[in-house]
Amino acid sequence: MTDQTVEHYERVAGSYNEHWTYDPDYVRRFAAAMADALRLTSSDAIADVGCGTGLYTRRLCEYVEPARPVLCVDPVPAMLDQLPASPRLRPVVGRAEDLASGEVAIPDGTPLDAVILKESIHHVADRATTLAGLGGLLSRHGRLLIVMLPQSIHHPLFRAAHERFEQLQPAPAEIVEEIGAVGLRASVSYRTFHAAIDRDRYVRMLESRYMSVLSEFSDDELREGIEQFRHAYRNDPVLRFEDQFAFVTGWVRPG
Ligand SMILES: C[S@@+](CC[C@H](N)C(=O)[O-])C[C@H]1O[C@@H](n2cnc3c(N)ncnc32)[C@H](O)[C@@H]1O
Repeated sequence: MTDQTVEHYERVAGSYNEHWTYDPDYVRRFAAAMADALRLTSSDAIADVGCGTGLYTRRLCEYVEPARPVLCVDPVPAMLDQLPASPRLRPVVGRAEDLASGEVAIPDGTPLDAVILKESIHHVADRATTLAGLGGLLSRHGRLLIVMLPQSIHHPLFRAAHERFEQLQPAPAEIVEEIGAVGLRASVSYRTFHAAIDRDRYVRMLESRYMSVLSEFSDDELREGIEQFRHAYRNDPVLRFEDQFAFVTGWVRPG
């Protein structure tokens, strides 16, 4: 994880939840889709790796009502500090790589039934080794879910941000292949969530660099991008777009 990534999340931690709290239904629907994709039940031992502020983890908990606390793993303490105090959420400071290598231990040492990485896989440096390590933590009913944006997205970003995003984002097909190489039964499906965001709010989201790709731009470049954005959407007080995500799953093979 680069210093730039750490600084980015330290900077956005305090405002991260605000971006989506105006539409809690979006978060609720998303969390339910993740739980359904893994067929989570209350008896599953679950880890959310790169959980951030736990915005989605807590909705997932409301939906699944897990009997054991969900491990909320994230390397940036400022993000974990935003987790609500709850017996259902157990914060663990660390990267996916650290959990995979055993450098960060699972508190009770039991195998995990479900590991979720939502929008954090693009930050993982050595994916093949990390996915193999995470696969090794799974129980015999274990399953892994990687939720990620595809390389081409419909977010109303400015052009340079789209281009940079496409350069940085791995393709879901690569992740399917990597999960298959670990020995899990891998597949990908796509889910679309309809987003409607007030344009002025979206400007504030851009200004606060709500996506990590925006931290690739200097203040001046961002200002220029936001000017382009304002011009392009000058007649749209509300921005509506399809937020499409790849859900890559890997299931432990029976036997
Ligand atoms: C886009 S946020 C997603 C947060 C949360 N999953 C969500 O969807 O709201 C990405 C998160 O990944 C975390 N992260 C960065 N590098 C990581 C790594 N190597 N392993 C695990 N998480 C990482 C960041 O600190 C940040 O909280």
